[in-house]
Amino acid sequence: MTPPRILVVDNDRQMVALLRRHLEREGFAVLEAAGGQAAVEVLQQEDVDIVLTDLVMDEVGGLEVLAAAQRERPGARVLLMTAFASLETAIEALRHGAYDYLTKPFKLAEATLAIRRALDDRRLRQENERLRAAVERQYGFERLLGETPAMQAVLEKVRAVAESDAPVLLLGESGTGKELVAQALHWGSARRAGPFVPVSCAAVPESLLESELFGHEKGAFTGADRKRAGLFAAAHGGTLFLDEIGDLQPGIQVKLLRVLQDRAVRPVGSTGEVRVDFRLVSATNRDLASLVREGKFREDLYYRLAVIPVRLPALRERAADIPLLASHFLERAARRLGKRLTGFTPEAAAWMLGHPWPGNVRELENAVERAAVLARGTDVMLADLRSDMDPAPPAPSALRPSLEDLELQYIRRVLEEVRGDKRAAAKVLGVSVRTLQRKVKDL
Ligand SMILES: Nc1ncnc2c1ncn2[C@@H]1O[C@H](COP(=O)(O)OP(=O)(O)OP(=O)(O)O)[C@@H](O)[C@H]1O
Ligand SMILES: [Mg+2]
Repeated sequence: MTPPRILVVDNDRQMVALLRRHLEREGFAVLEAAGGQAAVEVLQQEDVDIVLTDLVMDEVGGLEVLAAAQRERPGARVLLMTAFASLETAIEALRHGAYDYLTKPFKLAEATLAIRRALDDRRLRQENERLRAAVERQYGFERLLGETPAMQAVLEKVRAVAESDAPVLLLGESGTGKELVAQALHWGSARRAGPFVPVSCAAVPESLLESELFGHEKGAFTGADRKRAGLFAAAHGGTLFLDEIGDLQPGIQVKLLRVLQDRAVRPVGSTGEVRVDFRLVSATNRDLASLVREGKFREDLYYRLAVIPVRLPALRERAADIPLLASHFLERAARRLGKRLTGFTPEAAAWMLGHPWPGNVRELENAVERAAVLARGTDVMLADLRSDMDPAPPAPSALRPSLEDLELQYIRRVLEEVRGDKRAAAKVLGVSVRTLQRKVKDL
């Protein structure tokens, strides 16, 4: 390991020499400057970990050295040396971001101690930044793939509102990436240091969901053997993600509305209120507006949740993203499996483009992962993808394919059966080769 580099700055040459000798004995690499101006020049040229500078110097003083260090070497920590008389300026310097100060005269051991503390702080900070970057790669916007205008528009909107505290309602079919967007909203917001608390509102009995959300006092009901803080409280300072909000029972709808209005919760069995502060993101794959019209979802709650509605497009509405997503999932699967997989055969690629993907990105992800396991060559073949998919699941009425889609699907199937032989396919289909070519030119 290379020794930490320390820049010592003082008009007093004897002081510099003394510190240099001591710090080198302690195993540090020492650079020196006989004044503020010289220090600024060193900072422009040399990387340093710590700056140990006198505060009051002729011409260019310690505060200017501090500013130069922040500008040129933002990772460096600055320690000031000061006579008692200039303590006020030293405190001012701390306010400007200096790490610590030593009051002259000080023992050499004190200097070592302060330097080691500053180095630890620097290491911790770097480690934190590294972890944060890793987490952001894992949960942030970078994970959301999509180059089609439909997806780009969504990403732009989501990025723009991440910083605000306004409630976001994510709408979209199952598997379109609602949870992914919810996480990205959290990691892209000022609340990223706080918790991200996902709650599924589906299929949980009303009373259980209530105590989960609100928490309860000990003995509030049978089985409440301990006091428990609820999920509203757990999300304090962070983001609460209410998933499948369309399934929320009417009783809880009223209570949720009250929490959003009062920004406070009353745990079950308690008389006191607890203040809560969270950013709300909710999601549903149901048509919330029609649930409101049918009287199954409170209108007032709907407007509270849907301050910023974001609709995630179904995969078939952004089919041009399929190749990008498929290659990404394939690459990831290959890495996990330790297999060499370079791509898809043309038939497999064409089939993926035409498949309606009722389960959206999740379905594509699963299909590619399964195919990666089955694949024997370096290219994924159609048979690997379709292994256990036929017959295609019946499409919900809203997803009924158009006649044109059906025709293309049928042509594709025939082409597969004849292994891409257009002449043979044309015969089966009862059209001329030329007609067939025209119909498949965008396959
Ligand atoms: N734009 C995208 N880029 C990359 N991966 C995506 C994208 N959208 C979704 N995925 C992946 O697809 C899968 C499903 O996404 P997610 O769980 O966010 O969907 P959802 O909308 O919450 O679905 P559901 O309504 O069923 O809960 C996840 O594994 C996710 O990583
Ligand atoms: Mg989900």
